Amino acid sequence: MSDHIDNMLHESRVIAPSPEFAAQARVTREQYDEMYRRSLDDPEGFWAGVAGELAWMKPWERVLDWQEPHAQWFVGGETNIAYNALDRNVERGLGDKTAIIWEGEDGEVRTYTYSELLREVSRAANALTALGVVKGDRVTLYLPLIPEAAIAMLACARIGAVHSVVFGGFSVSALADRLGNAQSKVLITADAGQRRGGLVNLKANADEAAALAPSLERMLVVDRAHTHPPMREGRDLWWHEALAAASDEHEAAPLDSEHPLFLLYTSGSTGQPKGVQHTTGGYMVGTYLTTQTVFDLRDDDIYWCTADVGWVTGHSYSVYGPLLNGATVLMYEGAPNHPDWGRFWDLIQRHRVTILYTAPTAIRSFMRQGDDLPARHDLSSLRLLGSVGEPINPEAWMWYYRVIGGERCPVVDTWWQTETGSIMLTTLPGAHSSKPGSAGLPMFGVDPTIMTREGEELGPDDGGLLVIKRPWPAMLRTVYGDDERYKKTYWGEIPHVYFAGDGARRDADGYFTVVGRVDDVLNVSGHRLGTMEIESALVAHPSIAEAAVVGRPDEVKGECVVAFVLPQSGAEVDPQELRTHVSKEIGALARPDAIIVADALPKTRSGKIMRRFLRQIAAGKEIQGDTSTLEDPAVLERLAATEAV
Ligand code: WTA
Repeated sequence: MSDHIDNMLHESRVIAPSPEFAAQARVTREQYDEMYRRSLDDPEGFWAGVAGELAWMKPWERVLDWQEPHAQWFVGGETNIAYNALDRNVERGLGDKTAIIWEGEDGEVRTYTYSELLREVSRAANALTALGVVKGDRVTLYLPLIPEAAIAMLACARIGAVHSVVFGGFSVSALADRLGNAQSKVLITADAGQRRGGLVNLKANADEAAALAPSLERMLVVDRAHTHPPMREGRDLWWHEALAAASDEHEAAPLDSEHPLFLLYTSGSTGQPKGVQHTTGGYMVGTYLTTQTVFDLRDDDIYWCTADVGWVTGHSYSVYGPLLNGATVLMYEGAPNHPDWGRFWDLIQRHRVTILYTAPTAIRSFMRQGDDLPARHDLSSLRLLGSVGEPINPEAWMWYYRVIGGERCPVVDTWWQTETGSIMLTTLPGAHSSKPGSAGLPMFGVDPTIMTREGEELGPDDGGLLVIKRPWPAMLRTVYGDDERYKKTYWGEIPHVYFAGDGARRDADGYFTVVGRVDDVLNVSGHRLGTMEIESALVAHPSIAEAAVVGRPDEVKGECVVAFVLPQSGAEVDPQELRTHVSKEIGALARPDAIIVADALPKTRSGKIMRRFLRQIAAGKEIQGDTSTLEDPAVLERLAATEAV
């Protein structure tokens, strides 16, 4: 079977940055062209220049050592990412600048200046050391989105312990698997977290998971919600007591540039989750540069990335990237719809947020609620919007741009992955026009192309597999404990290139459009169709808020299109009209054979639609596979019981 993916959606809107934005941009069009060219022609010189803006305890001997598929960056150099995120900023006069503004779901607000954050992180680093944590030990974090999450990550980084953050919404078994795989010695958790007005009892889950994790020696517990959980003598310790007993001075450990910084588990489509391993120097340099340029960071920005630290976006763009740049970061603990769907707009208004970085799934949920809620808030502080996590449908892009950004703010659609560590494809806000639905151009040092599985490069507008042709600083180094899996998954599918697992195409201007995971591609009458384009056509219909499309085996066509659609609040779905609409928008080939009107779609807790379960439902099969990462597994039964129209 061919790997060509057909190009269905003909989206022709092009949105240029406003002259005002372009005039003040950190990176102009000309600068991008020059920097990008240099980053490919002289990668070592380019990256040495960027790395040189940060502090190193020992200079590197070589910028890059590439023994395919293993890269080492800033070889022989020593640094510390927490030192660069904190001490370095205090030393350059930002000690009194606000580093973190945190708001709890209940409305409590706490702020930390860079000096205060440095002292807290120092205490935590000393407390971890007192518990016997040494360089290289794994420490698992299972926390709500509270400042302690960032503090614990930075404290680990300070002493060279490897953090493994497990999203606080994950179950006991997911936590136990990850504790076991990482062989963590210490778990940092909280008594409970606030979510949608209720409490999530993290400590109770942690206790159950600990019973399944023999490597675990100690548990540090943040008293977030004052629920008085049982504390096990000899094992459990309150975070506030451990920190109170520790000094607020700590010297950051000089760490080899390739010292592991963190593990982050990402679910493969089959089998065990993979512990994606990132290291210190390259990750630091990559997140530093991308945060600064993609978000056009200024000294007075109030920057808000809504991602939880349980995801890579929370690592790179809620914590490390912005703090390395000395930014003021907003962090919000709770749900976007608590007490109502206006919560984000209220947060932006009260904290005068200037940069908002969120996910298409959230944008579509807001869109579903209509324009009134955002209209009732003052969003004029915003100057830049970002999107990440999935392809953003052009209609959702336009809504974000128009209703949230007031047609004033550039929208950057950033494509990257847990494995890539930092943003790979995007437009730079003052330099490039945006094309809704298309992520855009490669970031510095990123050398992407579109290929067939045989390694043949495809030309403009030809859909195929998205690959990266050379290493970049923030790329994953291995899969923890399973280097074979690393080699096979990422560098073994197609010879000599990194295979991202996504289908995409590049247009004549060099813009990349990601059309979905290759595993999800449909094959209708010999045409390979990406899920994103059919879904975008569905979402473009006024009655539809969200859509997920899968293939169902079909005797005639090979596969036919099955669409699961979520109506706009209060809208009626007319299946015939919807079919006609899809035929008109992108062609008869994509016309859904079956339409299932749903009240929810099966999503992971980071908001990605799990199409493999929908494929099983569409084919009338039993649900198979791990449903534990789903936000609400009960959705599957409801969908299976719904008649198609
Ligand atoms: C998808 C999140 C299209 C893609 C940072 C990728 C996107 C996977 C985009 C990684 C985007 C992420 N446009 N698709 N802007 N951003 N994806 O590891 O399929 O949670 O491979 O990292 O999300 O998801 P992950």
